[in-house]
Amino acid sequence: MCLRTGDVRGVDGGNKRMITCDSLVYQPFQPSGEALACDGVSIQSIVEHVGTPTYIYSARMVRESYRAIDEAFASYPHAIHYALKANSTMAITRLLRSLGSRADANSGGEIKIAERAGFAPGDIVFTGVGKTREELDYAIARGVGTINAESAGELDRIAAIARAQGRVARVALRVNPDIDAKSHPNISTGLKTNKFGVPLQEARGIYRARRETAGLQFTGVHIHIGSQITTLDPLRRAAETLVSLALELREDNFALEHVDLGGGLGIAYEGRPIIDPADYAGAVVPQLQRIGLPVVLEPGRAVVGHAGALVARVVDTKCFPDGRKFAVLDAGMGELIRPALYGSFHRIVPVNTRDGDETAWDVVGPICESSDVFARDRQLPPLEVDDLVAILDAGAYGSVMGSNYNRHMLAAEVLVDEGKWTTIRRRQTLEDVLALES
Ligand SMILES: Cc1ncc(COP(=O)(O)O)c(C=O)c1O
Repeated sequence: MCLRTGDVRGVDGGNKRMITCDSLVYQPFQPSGEALACDGVSIQSIVEHVGTPTYIYSARMVRESYRAIDEAFASYPHAIHYALKANSTMAITRLLRSLGSRADANSGGEIKIAERAGFAPGDIVFTGVGKTREELDYAIARGVGTINAESAGELDRIAAIARAQGRVARVALRVNPDIDAKSHPNISTGLKTNKFGVPLQEARGIYRARRETAGLQFTGVHIHIGSQITTLDPLRRAAETLVSLALELREDNFALEHVDLGGGLGIAYEGRPIIDPADYAGAVVPQLQRIGLPVVLEPGRAVVGHAGALVARVVDTKCFPDGRKFAVLDAGMGELIRPALYGSFHRIVPVNTRDGDETAWDVVGPICESSDVFARDRQLPPLEVDDLVAILDAGAYGSVMGSNYNRHMLAAEVLVDEGKWTTIRRRQTLEDVLALES
């Protein structure tokens, strides 16, 4: 386990084992000598070769996070389908495969990435709102493990495509249980106001009405109530709801093979107490035992979030008459959009810390948007132009959400593994971008 029991702050009354950032047993980004390193490898030396902005990942942290979840569920039949949407850079995807993970793909593109990384189609679940006919056609032709359908209409389109191909598609229906994940509204997916899944009360009828539909084989039921969930109660309730539905479907003689709990396990961005994977398992396994079917888990953030940092250079500093100080970086919302999109918190650490008192800084990017801000009033040591900073916990929903806005090129990505580093994605060039234009 990479996490150990930390302090108890009573966030989730019934569950007493909580962890914080400080209680991570393994911290990949730590000082080595005077300067910050990743798994002991100097960040300064990496960016001297690769430049900035650059994502740097710790393979060790990915391994430890994956194993923590796998070990937490050791007592119950389970399959981890790493959610590629969190980070699908090929080397990261291959690393997860080498650990024994299966894949959760959210688009035709992610299915193809998973296949290129060596995942067998049968080890891929295909999830996501708004699957196109072309994506479904491809997924069915390839024989993906299960398609998690989002609506009755989608099930019917899947059936028609499967029949046209002379195949049977393995499907589960995603239910929307109207459970508040108590996460950020933009990453909550299990409320009736969200676009995801079918209302719970309609699910059984949708299964029953399509029991005999040629081209469909119902293999499971699916739920995913949101991301960055930091309390156990919504996850426990989601499991209870899902298992109750699966039991009803068993009464209706559906031969289900699994239940799929989705992802959502939060990570400690701020030192707030969050859930240990063992506590997560402790909360949901008693529910799962009511049905006894294998569980599919689709973690993304909890596997790669802590493993990555975005390293950027200070390109300007300025101080306004009211005393507000800005450090302008060469990375912004085009590299890491989470703070601009969700107001999310990321720890920011200078790579080489200068002597001097900590003062409040607004750490901002170079993009022409006032929301292009990584942190406001962040207490940091003195910063000067050309200093390097690392924005931590950026391994999930970081580079995958990158954009070329303001014609910035996509950042390079580096993987550190056992004392060596490798560029796993070179920096994009203007030629790469213009190759698409006439
Ligand atoms: C269906 C589904 N499964 C899994 C995930 C992964 O979630 P997380 O990264 O929070 O574990 C998501 C992300 O929102 C999702 O939509």
